[in-house]
Amino acid sequence: MSSKHEILEKNVGLLALCMVLAVSIGGLTQIVPLFFQDVVNEPVQGMKPYTALQLEGRDIYIKEGCVGCHSQMIRPFRAETERYGHYSVAGESVWDHPFLWGSKRTGPDLARVGGRYSDDWHRAHLYNPRNVVPESKMPAYPWLVENKLDGKDTAAKLEAMRTLGVPYSDADIAGAAEAVSGKTEMEALVAYLQALGTSLKNKR
Ligand code: HEC
Repeated sequence: MSSKHEILEKNVGLLALCMVLAVSIGGLTQIVPLFFQDVVNEPVQGMKPYTALQLEGRDIYIKEGCVGCHSQMIRPFRAETERYGHYSVAGESVWDHPFLWGSKRTGPDLARVGGRYSDDWHRAHLYNPRNVVPESKMPAYPWLVENKLDGKDTAAKLEAMRTLGVPYSDADIAGAAEAVSGKTEMEALVAYLQALGTSLKNKR
């Protein structure tokens, strides 16, 4: 019994090509429209770009591997919204390059940790988590209070973000180095943490 399908089955190259085509249709219909939808491309109302200090703090968050234990993605389930607040929406991460949603939750989600604790609490906690949470198994980061930022690359970082669509002004970029130089890594990281999720904070 021969059929057109047999031609396909007996020609590996053709079969592979048709498989790729078939699989891409599913992927493309899901992914491509996302590039054009405002709801995933527009920042949430009133959102502000990270300040120079917060942006440096974000880099320290990346450098220290915090994303390996903390997600920044509250899923739309009651168990999550009761604990962490409003679920995360795409418009909150449009200026995050790269995004830090993460998937590992050895510690709590941090998408809305901004404003939950005082700056003092964060400093004590990051210096040694056991200071404030005796049973904590989070590592200590005591060097954050010693390492100082020189601001050498800060303007370039803001500029790079601007090419990716983050609305930094010329004045933001010109003042970037001065805004961070001499500050400790601890100050930068805490400034970043305190900004997390605050643009949607009060909407539940
Ligand atoms: C090995 C895993 C691990 C790493 C790495 C880690 N954490 Fe944690 N983190 C935890 C755990 C577990 C907790 C819960 C206990 C506690 O509060 O200390 C926690 C709690 C927190 C909290 C309090 C959250 C809340 O809602 O109570 C903050 C803020 C935090 N971590 C920030 C950070 C930052 C910033 C870094 C990187 C410098 C980091 N963590 C790295 C495991 C980790």
